[in-house]
Amino acid sequence: MPENGPVESGPALENLLVEERTFPPSPEFAAAAVASADLYEQASADRLGFWADQARELLDWDTAFTEVLDFSDAPRARWFADGTLNAAFNAVDRHVAAGLGERVAIHWEGENGDTRTLTYADLQREISRAANVLGDLGVSTGDRVAIYLPMIPEAVIAMLACARIGAPHSVVFGGFSAEALHSRIVDAEAKLVITADGGYRRGAPSALKPAVDEALAKGGTPVEHVLVVRRTGQEVAWTDDRDVWWHESVDAASETHAPVAVDAEHPLFILYTSGTTGKPKGIFHTTGGYLTQSAYTHRNVFDLHPETDVYWCTADIGWVTGHTYVTYGPLVNGATQVMYEGTPDTPHRGRWWEIVQKYGVTILYTAPTAIRTCMKWGGDIPAQFDLSSLRVLGSVGEPINPEAWMWYRRVIGGDRTPVVDTWWQTETGAIMISPLPGVTAAKPGSAQVPLPGIVADVLDDAGKSVPNGSGGYLVLTEPWPSMLRGIWGDEERFRETYWSRFPGSYFAGDGAKKDADGDIWLLGRVDDVMNVSGHRLSTTEIESALVSHPWVAEAAVVGAQDATTGQAVVAFVILRAEAVEKADEEGEGHDVVAELRNHVAKEIGPIAKPRSILVVAELPKTRSGKIMRRLLRDVAEHRQVGDVTTLADTSVMDLIATGLATAP
Ligand code: WT7
Repeated sequence: MPENGPVESGPALENLLVEERTFPPSPEFAAAAVASADLYEQASADRLGFWADQARELLDWDTAFTEVLDFSDAPRARWFADGTLNAAFNAVDRHVAAGLGERVAIHWEGENGDTRTLTYADLQREISRAANVLGDLGVSTGDRVAIYLPMIPEAVIAMLACARIGAPHSVVFGGFSAEALHSRIVDAEAKLVITADGGYRRGAPSALKPAVDEALAKGGTPVEHVLVVRRTGQEVAWTDDRDVWWHESVDAASETHAPVAVDAEHPLFILYTSGTTGKPKGIFHTTGGYLTQSAYTHRNVFDLHPETDVYWCTADIGWVTGHTYVTYGPLVNGATQVMYEGTPDTPHRGRWWEIVQKYGVTILYTAPTAIRTCMKWGGDIPAQFDLSSLRVLGSVGEPINPEAWMWYRRVIGGDRTPVVDTWWQTETGAIMISPLPGVTAAKPGSAQVPLPGIVADVLDDAGKSVPNGSGGYLVLTEPWPSMLRGIWGDEERFRETYWSRFPGSYFAGDGAKKDADGDIWLLGRVDDVMNVSGHRLSTTEIESALVSHPWVAEAAVVGAQDATTGQAVVAFVILRAEAVEKADEEGEGHDVVAELRNHVAKEIGPIAKPRSILVVAELPKTRSGKIMRRLLRDVAEHRQVGDVTTLADTSVMDLIATGLATAP
């Protein structure tokens, strides 16, 4: 089935809230803001010239580019292609050379209370040492390196050490299982894995190295070495000629290393994300265009004043937000940032606000799910801390409901701070649609306007631009510097997934609406991709995980609305009765739900565990055998089940409903 075949159930356009409140920037904020309305004019007068200016102003090039965009081989774009540069040099060395070596780059806060402060000079030394070790371990320009680390400074150092030698990194979120890690290592053919013994999570050390050992034991990987950071000090199994301690090798390495200037189009990283099929896609980004848009958006959307701001993005480096807005954007811009290892409620529910107070955070970038969780915990918790340093708040990952937006602004931002709702994707590399804090009169719940230099539209089924007041599908009609350059090793899937639905335009997979002013409201995915706490999960991937269990004959997964996590995974399974009975006889018990939830955690990772699993006798299917998830979503969201006339067997839904009613 093509990934973007007929959309089975679109977002509920009619449910869109009518939001009339607007929040224009204060005159003081606007006067001191980095961005002004001129940016829109400059960009629309000469879009490519605008991007060329950004690339020259925000980055240092080893070889200046003369060509801005080559889209002759569309959809494969080439930006600034005859230029050369190095990402780590731009993120660190040039700031040190400019006399900013003593500026704090990272205030790191471990979950257990450990802290570390790294200046730009410290980062330069550590990255250079690590780059030397990568070379000693046989990694050269173009080789891929997998990174599986907790949120510790070494995560950023490892990414930039790879970038320094031009070895594309593939960061795998620490919450993914050995199975998921293995498939990513194999797909990218990574030669080296960088990991840690473990990290602190919810007050206890949580191991990582065993998952790497398990992944590599499956075989079929070209991995030669594993570089291991000691973070928790927990026991680890050791493979002598393969495993190398970071503290033994990196600490002993030379602190000088010459960064390798690479072509602007040299791959910088691969990052796997869920699509509509079972196999995750290796989205790959290149160097010059990605860094240009990362720095440009970080500076303008967050109104960054690097001399005075303390910036904090709460995302993990395992997601694209961590790549662009922890590692690359802030460091290329010479910012001072906070990095936090753990969860927001360890050891208490005020931990984030305590961190804001402690470091005087001025810019905070987080996800709606976190905001809604804090709302649930109550405003009296943040009220116990001094949050007056905050001056810009950002949101990313899923639509933010106006109520959460208002709470964020009022309770966290003291009714004073602009809130920027930023829409983008792993594929877009950097922010695409967002208000500018000193320019745009913000509307709670809307990402509003494409940034200067970006061109977006909302199309109807026939590919026609919809008028204001109507909804459809979000597309990007012009190439942008940080766009994905493809799916690693699968050119055809790249074209098919993003460029075939509306020829000539990039199809984002999101539903959107233009309001009466032409502002854009994002309405959620229109494909089989779910968004749980801002994490992207594929229904098919979880279904495959479920049916790989011997007890499961068939499975269907849907994303059901959830007040905190946005969507939640709900699975419907048909069991193989004999298998369950056999397990029962053998004394293994048959807590089906617990067993299957754990199985999904093992196959993909704990983030993919279904919130609920419903055992059913049949699944609703069309005559052509396609599962009608729309009907299952109705069940999962406790709604009256919709139109069943296209079902092959219309009694199936009654059967499911009766089954649920009689379930224990
Ligand atoms: C999907 C991309 C962008 C980094 C984090 C997620 C949804 C993202 C917003 C927003 C409404 C949003 C979309 C998008 N999304 N930001 N501000 N408003 N929806 O990256 O894992 O690649 O997921 O997240 O559905 O397609 P990702």
